[in-house]
Amino acid sequence: MKMMKHVLMVTTLSMVVGIVGLVADSPPNTCTEIRTCRNVEIPYPFVIYKNLKSCSPDPRLIKLKCNDKDGLVKGNVPVLSINISTSQIELSLIVSKYCGKNNSNNPSLTSKSFTISSKDNKLLTVGDNSYGYLNSFGDDGSKYSTGCLTRSFGDSRSIDHGTCSGIGCCQVDIPPRMRNITIEASSFDELPKSCSYAFVVKNGNYTFSSTHLSQGLPDDLPVIFDWTIDFANNCTSAKNNGVNYGCKNNSKCDDEDTDYGYRCICNPGYEGNPYDPIGCRDINECENDTHECKTKANCKNIDGSHTCFCPKWGSSGDGTKKGGCQNLPNIVLGVGAAFILLFAGTFSYLIYHKRKFIKLKEKLFEQNGGLFLRQKLSGKEYSSSQSTQIFTQDELKKATKNFDESLIVGRGGFGTVFKGFLDDKRIVAIKKSKQINKNQIQQFIDEVVVLSQINHKNVVKLLGCCLETKVPLLVYEFVSNGTLSNFIHKERQVNNGTWKTRLKIAAEVAGALSYLHSGVTIPIIHSDVKSDNVLLDGTNITARVSDFGASKLVPLDQTEVATIVQGTFGYLDPEYMQTSQLTDKSDVYSFGVVLVELLTGEKPFCFGGQENSRSLAMHFLSYLKKDRVFEVIQNGMRNEGNEQEIKEVAVLASQCLRLRGEKRPSMKEVAMKLEGMTILDKRSPVDDDINIEETQYLLYESSSSSIHELGDTSKHGDVGYDSLKECKLIVLDDGR
Ligand SMILES: *[C@@H]1O[C@H](CO)[C@@H](O)[C@H](O)[C@H]1NC(C)=O
Ligand SMILES: *[C@@H]1O[C@H](CO)[C@@H](O)[C@H](O)[C@H]1NC(C)=O
Ligand SMILES: *[C@@H]1O[C@H](CO)[C@@H](O)[C@H](O)[C@H]1NC(C)=O
Ligand SMILES: *[C@@H]1O[C@H](CO)[C@@H](O)[C@H](O)[C@H]1NC(C)=O
Ligand SMILES: *[C@@H]1O[C@H](CO)[C@@H](O)[C@H](O)[C@H]1NC(C)=O
Ligand SMILES: *[C@@H]1O[C@H](CO)[C@@H](O)[C@H](O)[C@H]1NC(C)=O
Ligand SMILES: *[C@@H]1O[C@H](CO)[C@@H](O)[C@H](O)[C@H]1NC(C)=O
Repeated sequence: MKMMKHVLMVTTLSMVVGIVGLVADSPPNTCTEIRTCRNVEIPYPFVIYKNLKSCSPDPRLIKLKCNDKDGLVKGNVPVLSINISTSQIELSLIVSKYCGKNNSNNPSLTSKSFTISSKDNKLLTVGDNSYGYLNSFGDDGSKYSTGCLTRSFGDSRSIDHGTCSGIGCCQVDIPPRMRNITIEASSFDELPKSCSYAFVVKNGNYTFSSTHLSQGLPDDLPVIFDWTIDFANNCTSAKNNGVNYGCKNNSKCDDEDTDYGYRCICNPGYEGNPYDPIGCRDINECENDTHECKTKANCKNIDGSHTCFCPKWGSSGDGTKKGGCQNLPNIVLGVGAAFILLFAGTFSYLIYHKRKFIKLKEKLFEQNGGLFLRQKLSGKEYSSSQSTQIFTQDELKKATKNFDESLIVGRGGFGTVFKGFLDDKRIVAIKKSKQINKNQIQQFIDEVVVLSQINHKNVVKLLGCCLETKVPLLVYEFVSNGTLSNFIHKERQVNNGTWKTRLKIAAEVAGALSYLHSGVTIPIIHSDVKSDNVLLDGTNITARVSDFGASKLVPLDQTEVATIVQGTFGYLDPEYMQTSQLTDKSDVYSFGVVLVELLTGEKPFCFGGQENSRSLAMHFLSYLKKDRVFEVIQNGMRNEGNEQEIKEVAVLASQCLRLRGEKRPSMKEVAMKLEGMTILDKRSPVDDDINIEETQYLLYESSSSSIHELGDTSKHGDVGYDSLKECKLIVLDDGR
């Protein structure tokens, strides 16, 4: 037995190391940052997340992606370059073209934290008999347009090669704060002989050539955008966020001309990247020759600045270029020299000690640097997720008074749960599993290792296990407030408050399951989701999913596992019962039953005695189908305010309960839906990607009111709105 224990411990340890190594320090909830794309370094606050689906990204960082086709992209827009000090990014935007009805595109672009730089770009239209414009949509539904037109009326002599003079090519300035835009090119001709183009381009990166009229333009051109971080905040609110403040050491916040978010600037005297966790560094003005002093020797660097000085003896003055240093009369010098001689010994002694002191400081510095580096490399994860603890049998026997009946807190299909008191004052729940055979041991250990890596606020944490006993014992943290089942079925009086709590619980359970399905290194199917397995914690009732006794780890290349059907009657996925193929959709079904339980307050079995309704789920669905769902919602819970919500959750439950697993939503979709309903402030969506859409929809409109949308700022405006009237005006899609 002793031998066995030793071997198992080693295996467990190496498993831990293996997993940590394999996923390159990405335990649950910690996003793995990638800092290069095609050997190009990605500076803060930009980031590529390796495991975005399974972690909560830092809202202050701007997410990019790296793909095979375009390299670095923001949304679906290729990134050409990033400038931190100017808070600008150069993106490659599609050129809008119009070559007749069937061959045109109108790129649209939406973002909050990216604004087309007003001073660094121009809007151009290229073509003959063409006009192009840019529409910008404000948050309040306002709309602005600007653009220009160019016509030669068939006489191409005035087309000026090399300059955008107004014929063949026209250009206008771009107003500030344009971030939700569409760009349109169009032609005055019903059947144009050549194409028309409209585009925004970085100043200096487009030179008009008359050959462009016949041979066309590149598909995309560079555009400069101003960016900000943390678009849900401004400087004031961000600073109040404390740890979530995006401007690091020695930098300041700037939101003067931003509508969303803020940018950071290194304080004067500092340089570097203000978004980088290490912050801005002091500039050594003396070394960098940016000092004001007479010579380098008169310069002394200090944190954030420098000072100038004159040698202590023999001169006076301030040591600056202006003031300089003046020699003192000889007598003073002499006294100074005597002074030096007198104390030379003392000085050298002091210098010796100073050297030693510097050495020590260097060493400390190195140590601190090393510490910092280690901290950065390892991140929070090493300290916060303790690895699996191996408990001894004696320890657990003592904790449970030799598995005393009085300490049993639960009994289920998979074992018995005892409350236990460890020597270190921790209260734990100890689960005595049913017997497992030898072949399952390795899997059991794998499972324990993976489960103990789970660190989610809505999942009961596995602390460790004991393998010395015949049946393995699992040690979980103890959750105090009983099960969700008790909570639902004990409640007599329900009201809107009850509903809000239940909705919160539903969202939390869904979040936890979604996390298990997709969040961890290996997907985990719970396979026994039920209200008995949801524990409630604390005064403001936090749901904690527990009991992974039946959990199945799904190898990454598989989406289902064949098992002996086990689970709890009333919650069991009918498809799984038939096929014995356990998939994550089986959990979705069971969760659907839990939703129904939350809505109806009924137990999934032995409920109110209706004939011919075999299970609560079927009963519920039949009422929903007849549009009489409110008849089965628990009495008292519904009111005017929550009717819509209840209905939405009822529909969601019905989707979870679909017979065919593949038709059910994923746990992630369910969680997102429920979370969306619990979050009151839906003001700021978390994702702020830019996406270009090439829309193909061209609608025709002839009403004169729409014509004024085309604010023409061109020199050739006198060509007249009248001719525009007959033209196609493009009504834009919403540019999602
Ligand atoms: C950023 O822009 C500034 C000003 O135009 C320029 O001096 C600097 O070299 C640029 N930095 C990078 C990394 O392109
Ligand atoms: C455009 O496409 C439609 C159908 O897709 C076709 O009927 C029409 O002739 C085409 N027009 C031109 C100018 O090619
Ligand atoms: C933009 O213009 C600069 C300077 O003329 C040039 O170096 C750069 O390659 C151009 N960028 C693109 C994407 O054409
Ligand atoms: C900053 O944001 C907060 C809340 O989002 C708002 O109350 C405040 O007025 C804003 N301050 C400025 C200067 O815009
Ligand atoms: C911030 O910068 C100052 C001056 O450069 C330095 O003394 C301090 O240690 C830094 N603080 C942190 C947390 O890095
Ligand atoms: C001096 O300036 C250069 C660039 O201007 C910078 O890279 C370097 O870090 C600076 N050195 C010090 C000691 O500040
Ligand atoms: C962009 O404009 C469209 C059209 O008005 C609007 O539906 C959409 O919500 C806007 N998007 C943003 C991010 O402001």
